[in-house]
Amino acid sequence: MREEKTPRLVEDYTGARARVYGEERAIIVAVAPREEACERSLHELESLAATAGIATLATVIQTRSRPDPATVIGKGKVEEVAQAAEALEADVILFDRELTPGQARNLEERTNRKIIDRTQLIMDIFAQHAATKEARLQVELAQLRYLLPRLRGWGDALTRLGGGIGTRGPGETKLELDRNKITRRIHALERRLEKARAERSTQRKQRTRSELPVIAIVGYTNSGKSTLMNRLCSAELLVEDKLFATLSTSVRRGEISPGRIALFIDTVGFIRDLPHHLVPAFSSTLEAAKEADLILHVTDAASPNREEEHRSVRETLTAQVFAEDSPHPPIIDVLNKIDLLGEESGTAFVDGVWISAKEGINLDLLRAGICEVLDRGREEVRLFVPYSAFDLFHRLVGRGESVSYLPAGIETSVTVSSVVLSRLRAAGVKVISSASARKG
Ligand code: GTP
Repeated sequence: MREEKTPRLVEDYTGARARVYGEERAIIVAVAPREEACERSLHELESLAATAGIATLATVIQTRSRPDPATVIGKGKVEEVAQAAEALEADVILFDRELTPGQARNLEERTNRKIIDRTQLIMDIFAQHAATKEARLQVELAQLRYLLPRLRGWGDALTRLGGGIGTRGPGETKLELDRNKITRRIHALERRLEKARAERSTQRKQRTRSELPVIAIVGYTNSGKSTLMNRLCSAELLVEDKLFATLSTSVRRGEISPGRIALFIDTVGFIRDLPHHLVPAFSSTLEAAKEADLILHVTDAASPNREEEHRSVRETLTAQVFAEDSPHPPIIDVLNKIDLLGEESGTAFVDGVWISAKEGINLDLLRAGICEVLDRGREEVRLFVPYSAFDLFHRLVGRGESVSYLPAGIETSVTVSSVVLSRLRAAGVKVISSASARKG
């Protein structure tokens, strides 16, 4: 018998009410031409569901080469899923793909349950992670554009969805579910997004760089980013850095060598085959990674799909987060969960630091690696900084020594790492002389 928790009463814009339990419970369904692909898809969907706070009660797979146009899975399977949902008292049925509005409706009518597809699930996760104003706008926009063609009539979609997963907006907002209001809200969001973009570029100019190095933790969903962040950062070291007050709620301080502090930022997890229309929302949640001094790319080394997961994160980073050819922060590969690996752990698929965030294995090795990369190639250089690159210089380096002001820019002496130097060079800064050049 289902353990009853105290339900929350959720009310929508039309006044309809639904009871939502602390954790929703789902049956998850995967469809693919081969069983192996189904299993992989289920594994992923299950971890996405866990991230969104949904417990998986049962999984159902159907191997078929072509999905049924009306219900994705065949008639008999729909029946099976409906019975399982009834017997297990599931709140929701999750599908491993994007459903057309018609499919969602047919499935919902036949199972009498809330139907959520992969896209809605991902949007829900983004909604919970959207930290900046721009990211919140992007996520809400994606959610509303998705919902619009899926409404049947006036406000009946929420009654259908019944609150909870699929109706959560970023921050405190609830999703508007009335066709006219949605259309108006979409236009308003587009305008506000334009404004937020303009504001961001001015804010960037005004921002003064923190003295502390910034390290972004990225990786596939469920790879162990939050666990690692908790290990590396201590709760007492609170972040009061203005730079990030607006940028992210998940910034903390950690000691990377005795007395040496860095800022760590946790980011939203990567997801394979991100639906195309969600890319802008996702990239905006990763704004912080672009500006970091160093990126820790965490991979679950015990995952059966570790190579694919590693590759998909790297590809997304290069293609969608960093501008194609501009220099980006250096990346350290962190291969997590070695405690789950047996003898085969020696088969390295990528060069990196092998750790267990949960068991605290090799964390000192990782800290040493971080310090080494941050310090790599530090040297004293005399630079010419054109005024056009002055903001960037100020953010990355702060003040230089023995500054002389010239008509087109300044000359100054600083000690910088090779990472910083390459970012400055890309912005037009010239090296006039360096210690290594003098020695050489
Ligand atoms: P998302 O928020 O979904 O992106 O996940 P995440 O990357 O932040 O992963 P999280 O830290 O939440 O960890 C996911 C699961 O992996 C949790 O159940 C952790 O306890 C587990 N985990 C993390 N690190 C390790 C590890 O080193 N060993 C083992 N065995 N489990 C780990």
